[in-house]
Amino acid sequence: MLAVARPVNLAFGLSSNERDASHHMAAFMEVDLRTCQPDTLVDRINAVPALKTSAVLGPAAHIDKRSSSPVATTANKSAPSDEPIGLDDIPPLSLGVLTEHADKVDALKLVADSIAQQRQTASRSMVFHPLNVAGLSATLGVAYQLNSNRDLGVNLSIMSGIIMAYLMTIRYFTAQYIPLAEDLKWDWILPIKDDGELDPDAEEDKIIGAKYGNEIIGALVLRLVPSTSEQTLAAAGSTNSRRKRSPSSLNNYYTGGHGVVRAWTTILRYRRRGVGSDMLHEAIKVTRDHCGKDARVVFAEAHANSVMVVHDMFNRPFRKAEQWAAAALEKALQHVESDQPKR
Ligand SMILES: CC(C)(COP(=O)(O)OP(=O)(O)OC[C@H]1O[C@@H](n2cnc3c(N)ncnc32)[C@H](O)[C@@H]1OP(=O)(O)O)[C@@H](O)C(=O)NCCC(=O)NCCS
Repeated sequence: MLAVARPVNLAFGLSSNERDASHHMAAFMEVDLRTCQPDTLVDRINAVPALKTSAVLGPAAHIDKRSSSPVATTANKSAPSDEPIGLDDIPPLSLGVLTEHADKVDALKLVADSIAQQRQTASRSMVFHPLNVAGLSATLGVAYQLNSNRDLGVNLSIMSGIIMAYLMTIRYFTAQYIPLAEDLKWDWILPIKDDGELDPDAEEDKIIGAKYGNEIIGALVLRLVPSTSEQTLAAAGSTNSRRKRSPSSLNNYYTGGHGVVRAWTTILRYRRRGVGSDMLHEAIKVTRDHCGKDARVVFAEAHANSVMVVHDMFNRPFRKAEQWAAAALEKALQHVESDQPKR
């Protein structure tokens, strides 16, 4: 059994969208299932909600008591350190499919933020790339040689100018991440077919959110893909529109299908705390609830963070991130399978 707690007071539901729908629905990278996963973060936290949440989120997370609603803030910006924090004031961390429109919008904003953050990653990669550093050093050397008869102040100004130009050029090349982030809109989660038309049979993507109090701290966009159109029609037993279908026939629609993770992100300050793994577990559970207990879950090849705007030699950090993301999914799948009762 998948160990993910879902507090009833949470307004959780789903959805996400696509920059290039036809692109996204096309190719998926297969992920294999192996490894094991310990108890989920949500379980660990919600066993004693207040205590454990603060423990896991660590010293960086405190509750701002001046706010009417409890929110997680950074230590230096939150409640005075000499005031003890009441356990009841610490909001629970919970996880589930988002149902509220506002939550879904916040989750999509988180995904858009993660795309914009790729600009920093790409910039760092370019600034410190050996080839660029060598080019910069050579330029500085030549400039120094050409101006060796001038005074130190002039030389320092020239060097600063060259370094500034270097950084501005990199900034220019990585700027394309910003419009990419801005392009992520609601229609990205709609089931748009290759021909650009809305698929009347399919649902919009589900958005799995991790929520700390009222704040969405993690989002995963999951697209359920039916097995084949023929099987789908047979399973649904009719060609009626989705509006006329019962929830059970919608489940039939996806039976035999699989889940595709189209976006997966945790807010920066909560990363490396297990939130991402918990969302993967939930994605597997949701997929198997709809598609069957052996349904696969894979990352979309054209996921939200897959667009690389700079030359491939600077994209190593993104390739590495994709590799450990695939490994994390594999681990989550393995964990879920080891929890399933043997047939
Ligand atoms: C990917 C992301 C959602 C992970 O969220 P998270 O809350 O930090 O994930 P977790 O703490 O549950 O870690 C999940 C696994 O990934 C690994 N991992 C996370 N960040 C990592 C990093 N920077 N480098 C290497 N491994 C990393 C963890 O070690 C963990 O594996 P483990 O269970 O074997 O220890 C988060 O880093 C993020 O939002 N990144 C930006 C968006 C992005 O790149 N998405 C992935 C697109 S493929």
